[in-house]
Amino acid sequence: MKANLLTAILPLLLLAGSSGASSKPKTPKAPGLTYLYQLNITGGAGVDVGVGPRGDRFVVPIASGSFLGPRLNGMYGVCTVLPFGGDWALIDNKGVVVADVRQTFATDDGAYIQVYETGSSQPDGTSFVRLTFETGSPKYYWLNSVVAIGILRLVTNSSLSIDAWQVSLFRFLMPADEPGTMTPG
Ligand SMILES: *[C@@H]1O[C@H](CO)[C@@H](O)[C@H](O)[C@H]1NC(C)=O
Ligand SMILES: *[C@@H]1O[C@H](CO)[C@@H](O)[C@H](O)[C@H]1NC(C)=O
Repeated sequence: MKANLLTAILPLLLLAGSSGASSKPKTPKAPGLTYLYQLNITGGAGVDVGVGPRGDRFVVPIASGSFLGPRLNGMYGVCTVLPFGGDWALIDNKGVVVADVRQTFATDDGAYIQVYETGSSQPDGTSFVRLTFETGSPKYYWLNSVVAIGILRLVTNSSLSIDAWQVSLFRFLMPADEPGTMTPG
């Protein structure tokens, strides 16, 4: 009995479903981006490790750096990047430079934040990087769960800058008119 009923109803259900098929699927709302910081890095003398199975490995140490951002400067001073870490960059067989960066931030109010950065060079010469943060500082603990992207630009042959943005889907949780908060699209 039940099976027969289903057989009778099923074509109707399919028809009902297909009636909406001609309408365009709705694009989901884009997440927002909240400005995290601007970072300047100066590199030291690098070494070319050579072409191995994964590509040409090029290692550049971090000599110095500074960063500044709305939620990362407790005392409104310039925070520093400690002079260790670096980029273990790989130039792949298509000429794409793949960054693999480790750096340690020291905030102006005494906290340390470990930062990992990976990403690829883009046709226009910038690189897009994914950022991951790690810290035990209660004040900056929120960074541990942040999803962030950075736009990396070479400034000279030994220095670069990165503008970092936090993905913020729930824009209403952010201070609404904070400078640097923007919603694309
Ligand atoms: C980064 O360098 C630019 C100049 O190239 C400067 O205007 C900016 O203030 C610097 N930012 C930081 C955080 O040091
Ligand atoms: C980098 O630029 C400096 C001048 O600013 C130059 O002396 C040096 O040779 C350049 N290094 C490379 C690897 O191109």
